[in-house]
Amino acid sequence: MQLSDCRIVNLPKITDPRGNLTFIEEQRHVPFRIRRVYYLYDVPSGGERGGHAHKELEQLIIAASGSFDVVLDDGAQCARYRLDRPYFGLYICPMIWRELVNFSSGAVCLVLASNLYDEADYYRDYDEFVREAGKRNRTPQTGNLKLER
Ligand code: TYD
Repeated sequence: MQLSDCRIVNLPKITDPRGNLTFIEEQRHVPFRIRRVYYLYDVPSGGERGGHAHKELEQLIIAASGSFDVVLDDGAQCARYRLDRPYFGLYICPMIWRELVNFSSGAVCLVLASNLYDEADYYRDYDEFVREAGKRNRTPQTGNLKLER
């Protein structure tokens, strides 16, 4: 569960002069069962959201309208993604701190999530998150010692 497990997913786009269509199927375009959908809207232009990590939750984030940037951090490395097309999703695995920044006016951030809302699944303190991420990366898993970066 590190930055390299997060990725941009190219979603299908059915082009049509009446208007384009994109669809998302669980286990096909997202590697999890979709148990919750939520969306952010009316974010002030240039505004920010996020600022937390999840212990177990997986998510796919889509700019359904407009654009914003997503800054990901696994406690060791950071990456910045610009989402500005409704047919690109950003898959975020567990244990990734995320900040959503630089919202355009009228942007809609659509989120598909692998579980129901659970405040106990959040890290909201960055220092605590970094400590826990470091511990997990030092824990031997199925016999393979993950090297600390
Ligand atoms: P939060 O996840 O912190 O928002 P963001 O990451 O977009 O900044 O959630 C903001 C508030 O909304 C918080 O009080 C919890 C509540 N909330 C729910 O009740 N259900 C949900 O599915 C989500 C995502 C948030």
